[in-house]
Amino acid sequence: MTDRVVVAGALYDRGRLLAARRSAPEELAGRWELPGGKLEPGERPEDALVRELREELGVEAEPLARIPGEWPLKPGYVLQVWTARLVAGEPQPLEDHDALRWLTPDETDTVDWLDQDRPAVAEAARLLRGA
Ligand code: CDP
Repeated sequence: MTDRVVVAGALYDRGRLLAARRSAPEELAGRWELPGGKLEPGERPEDALVRELREELGVEAEPLARIPGEWPLKPGYVLQVWTARLVAGEPQPLEDHDALRWLTPDETDTVDWLDQDRPAVAEAARLLRGA
């Protein structure tokens, strides 16, 4: 059986990366993540990312490139991460989150990321520095 994919976005705007603080479930609340969610059956990861960022943050985003790698979540799920560009809107914590922060590459270590997000955050910050 293939794992179900959770896609998350390293969302960029004006040289900064968006971090989102989870409000649920209890064991993840207070930790920071790259916003995203599960792919629907038959959905392309890029489309799922655009949909999730619209639902959770109320923004329009353009996926840019997949960050190489895949990170295990709970059994049966894996995390994939794409960089994305903010196209329209100002992110609001509409669903799943209770705080948002825009971080410069040098600030990415200042929030308590979910463990599984850390490698992708490090790579996203590296790419942002070089941008
Ligand atoms: O909104 P949806 O139910 O599609 O997905 P979610 O609850 O936001 O995420 C599904 C699972 O992926 C949760 O268990 C999250 O902990 C995990 N996840 C993660 O580890 N890192 C992310 N950047 C996004 C989600």
